[in-house]
Amino acid sequence: MPYQLYVLKSCISTQDEVKKRIEISQNDLIAVLSETQTKGRGTYSRQWLSDVGGLYLSLSHPIIDHFLPPSTIFSLIVIKTLYESTSNSYLARLPVGIIYPNDIVLVYKQNYYKLGGILVENYKNILIVGIGLNINNRVKEYNFEHKAISIKEYYEITENISPDIEVEELSNRILTNVEIFYQNKPTSYDHLLELIKYVDFTPNLKNISVIYQSDERETVENFQTIEVNFFSRQIKLNKNNSTLLIQFERVRRIMY
Ligand code: BTN
Repeated sequence: MPYQLYVLKSCISTQDEVKKRIEISQNDLIAVLSETQTKGRGTYSRQWLSDVGGLYLSLSHPIIDHFLPPSTIFSLIVIKTLYESTSNSYLARLPVGIIYPNDIVLVYKQNYYKLGGILVENYKNILIVGIGLNINNRVKEYNFEHKAISIKEYYEITENISPDIEVEELSNRILTNVEIFYQNKPTSYDHLLELIKYVDFTPNLKNISVIYQSDERETVENFQTIEVNFFSRQIKLNKNNSTLLIQFERVRRIMY
């Protein structure tokens, strides 16, 4: 069954709009796209700036039983959609990848800029997947934890052009790819695991700060390099001659 997509001008958060609609709809697959959000949220209760021009999409999805975290699975589906955009050369040419677990990044002059992110919430045993992407909006001037960029800004810097990307069309293609992913498991997992090899930029990071859970509290520590093992669900953090090996679940955030 395909997604039923609602397109709104403005809302508090598309996450909440999906939850509301699940309660009253016969259709299990609900998606909401909004032009702006007044209180968009990111992971770990951070706010997600939601000016006009960005993509703010949420969708419902059954629980996924796989060793890849759901936020990584959906990050990969978004990357796949961007790569497949052969009819839109602006999207297909982007040097994009992921940084574990849910950042969608664009690499420019060996720096990683946050292009978007995925927020997965569990609501009554259904996943509510929020996708935020910087498309035609302006984010470069905002100084958050990460350097950020939109697709428009990337082309302004690199090619001196200022394209307007069709946000609704891109959202529909993301939804189609989520449907394909859902219908073709386990082949879909094989494809995503193949894709990770090329688009996971996490091992390229140098001199990062990592927030992780140790005992009952969160620790922030600097490391020189990082290795993610998606199969064993472990992360190796290296500095000087020492290595810290921790489980996925304990890594809160990687600052690059
Ligand atoms: C992150 O912190 O990187 C995740 C950001 C997720 C933002 C999206 S925008 C659509 C959906 N609605 C929200 O309030 N958040 C997510």
